[in-house]
Amino acid sequence: MSDQVFIFDTTLRDGEQALAASLSVNEKLQIAFALERLGVDIMEVGFPVSSPGDFESVQTIAREIKNSRVCALSRAVAKDIDAAGEALRVADQFRIHTFISTSTIHVESKLRRSFDDVLDMAVNAVKHARNYTDDVEFSCEDAGRTPIDNLCRTVEAAIAAGARTINIPDTVGYTVPSEFSNIIQTLFNRVPNIDQAIISVHCHDDLGMSVANSIAAVQAGARQIECTINGIGERAGNCSLEEVAMILETRKNMLGLSSNINAKEIHRTSQLVSQLCNMPIQPNKAIVGGNAFTHSSGIHQDGMLKSENTYEIMTPESIGLSRNHLNMTSRSGRHVIKHRMEEMGYNDSDYDMDTLYQGFLELADKKGQVFDYDLEALVFIDSQTKQDDYYQLNQMSVHSDSGGMATASVDMQVGGERIVEAATGNGPVDAAYKAVQRASQRELKISSYNLGAKGHGQDALGQVDIVANYQDQNFHGVGLATDVVEASVRALVHVMNLTWRADQVASRKNEIELTKVAGEV
Ligand code: KIV
Ligand code: ZN
Repeated sequence: MSDQVFIFDTTLRDGEQALAASLSVNEKLQIAFALERLGVDIMEVGFPVSSPGDFESVQTIAREIKNSRVCALSRAVAKDIDAAGEALRVADQFRIHTFISTSTIHVESKLRRSFDDVLDMAVNAVKHARNYTDDVEFSCEDAGRTPIDNLCRTVEAAIAAGARTINIPDTVGYTVPSEFSNIIQTLFNRVPNIDQAIISVHCHDDLGMSVANSIAAVQAGARQIECTINGIGERAGNCSLEEVAMILETRKNMLGLSSNINAKEIHRTSQLVSQLCNMPIQPNKAIVGGNAFTHSSGIHQDGMLKSENTYEIMTPESIGLSRNHLNMTSRSGRHVIKHRMEEMGYNDSDYDMDTLYQGFLELADKKGQVFDYDLEALVFIDSQTKQDDYYQLNQMSVHSDSGGMATASVDMQVGGERIVEAATGNGPVDAAYKAVQRASQRELKISSYNLGAKGHGQDALGQVDIVANYQDQNFHGVGLATDVVEASVRALVHVMNLTWRADQVASRKNEIELTKVAGEV
């Protein structure tokens, strides 16, 4: 058996399905490129039958990604498989992933069918998917709670029907490592045609055991792990890619297994996914948490000074977190910034140097010293707000004191016209938001508001993430500034531009429909 473990990333499918606001096609594409750089073998990027938006993003990613195999999900029904096949066929090589539940509780309570019916559906689905590609993956949803005889029968039938990867999900994160490893071993012992497929695992983290279960499974012979960046996903999330990759790397000698992951891309990919998905990373998260390489106690610091391997089993550099020896201030030239960006793993094409340098100088004037995370934040905010041109903030001012109402005035461009408005409110953010909504004449319902700091001291950049509901859809806006009220307003202006663009797309679609109808008449 090969010692290579295939890494199947499902950030853009299982991960995305758990977000408060869906990602745009462009945001999904940014993540797909990052996953490709990271070296994932397969990326599952959506569920095309679920919405036209999902279909479009799967198709766009399938067209652009060349070095990882692109995959899409489908239930075990023909229309789902057809949608997946249609969306993916622009790729040179692709995988269709089809699934059905096999646990008694799911078969009886959710599907309300007999197990034999389910078995037939599984076989038909795999055969149907094989009309589009040889690379078909089949999953027994809730395998962790499926009676082992039924699981063995389903796996054997799916392989006989043509599935080349069989996925064993612990859908509800219920099993413990020894139990899960036993399930995998039993499949290897009892399914006669098992050598014709790769066995994959897909573990959820409801009891915090997704990574341990996945590692136990590869020790028992599984050779594909399904996982997500930062472990995002349904409920408590999925097995986290960065943890699995660094376990395979750090404990290579003990496990005797390897993956194609380029670990140096981990930090950057993790940051990008956290930002775009509006999913902060807990500071003590393994591998990518802010404290993962910080040594606090005196005894630990003393040990580290004597020898780094006293308390460090892997280096921050190994995940692409390079220690900065440059002091970046307003006196630093463009070459210093470019050099630092290169050290952090960015290519020239990943950002616009003029915009970054301009942003850097403005920030350096305000805070003196600029740090790596400031540069990354500037690059991120530029990529997010590049197209924000319908609503623009020229200037704002707020006044508040601890006793009374706050007042705010904003000076904005709205579709090229300059508008100045003022409002009072229950605090400076409330007042500023009312003034912006008045100026823009766009009413949005803010369902979540989050203020965080990019950096450590009082001069840190404030980052505000909001989720706004507009015409039954959620939009994620982000704003960044040294002034937190300004960051709040920028997040609102960003979200307004997103909703404005969504209106434009909808009205273009309407026009096309009307033209079609007129043509038919
Ligand atoms: O958790 C799960 O079982 C899934 C399947 C669709 C693979 O996400
Ligand atoms: Zn899942």
